[in-house]
Amino acid sequence: MKTVLITGCSSGYGLETARYFLAQGWQVIATMRTLQEGLFPPSKNLRILALDVTRPDSILAVLDTAGPIDVLVNNAGIGLFGAFEATPMSTIRDLFETNTFGVMAMCQAVIPQFRERQAGIIINVTSSATLAPFPLVAPYTASKMAIEGFTASLELELKTFNVQVKLVEPGYGPTTRFTANGQQRMQGLIPAAYELFAHSVFAGFANILAVTREIDVAETVWRAASDTSNQLRFPAGADALALMQLA
Ligand SMILES: NC(=O)c1ccc[n+]([C@@H]2O[C@H](COP(=O)([O-])OP(=O)(O)OC[C@H]3O[C@@H](n4cnc5c(N)ncnc54)[C@H](OP(=O)(O)O)[C@@H]3O)[C@@H](O)[C@H]2O)c1
Repeated sequence: MKTVLITGCSSGYGLETARYFLAQGWQVIATMRTLQEGLFPPSKNLRILALDVTRPDSILAVLDTAGPIDVLVNNAGIGLFGAFEATPMSTIRDLFETNTFGVMAMCQAVIPQFRERQAGIIINVTSSATLAPFPLVAPYTASKMAIEGFTASLELELKTFNVQVKLVEPGYGPTTRFTANGQQRMQGLIPAAYELFAHSVFAGFANILAVTREIDVAETVWRAASDTSNQLRFPAGADALALMQLA
């Protein structure tokens, strides 16, 4: 039976992905910053472990406890919406700590066991913001674009060891906790000069027809984990698929 370790399983895409792999009969290590009860049906195939991807001690501890894994899903991420000129560099660095360096640190931690076993899959969850530019998300897009380039290069480097590296690019998911989780970080990031423009961008969100559901991401991560071709990019959700076709 195969084992998947998924980051950021307390809500949204990560939670649904963990539930999906459990339903397929996999051993699932669902990790989250703060352990929570009642998110999953009882299962002997499930382990819930604490993990903050910005803390090297936390990463070491979780991999020590987890034992061998077959698939790593780097899903944990945070959002940031605001005018770039008003965004403190400290906030941008925090964003990169999770979305970019957290992903790299997780990859670095699992690669030795994958390389030694000549097997393993790393799936990095980025965003449809990498498929087409959106306004007022410049640092967020940069943090995810960095992982797109990183993954494409790493894929070539690890292929020699039979280790696969893939990207899942979800679209806009209004039903996750993504926006609510970022509220505090985004306070004051729309100064007066940007208000009118930001208002028109927000109004556009109300007219969006195609969005991404949690199950779209779960199914896509599953597809990426089961893929035996060399496909690198897996857009997830109707809006992401539409953007991919335009790109
Ligand atoms: N929803 C969207 O519109 C959208 C669109 C494209 C891509 N994405 C990407 O999809 C992924 C999942 O987002 P979501 O929409 O499911 O949002 P979500 O509901 O906010 O889930 C994000 C998860 O990441 C965790 N997390 C945040 N910082 C962490 C850290 N330092 N260490 C470990 N876990 C951490 C959160 O844990 P806590 O509960 O502890 O905060 C939460 O479990 C993210 O990478 C996001 O960038 C989302």
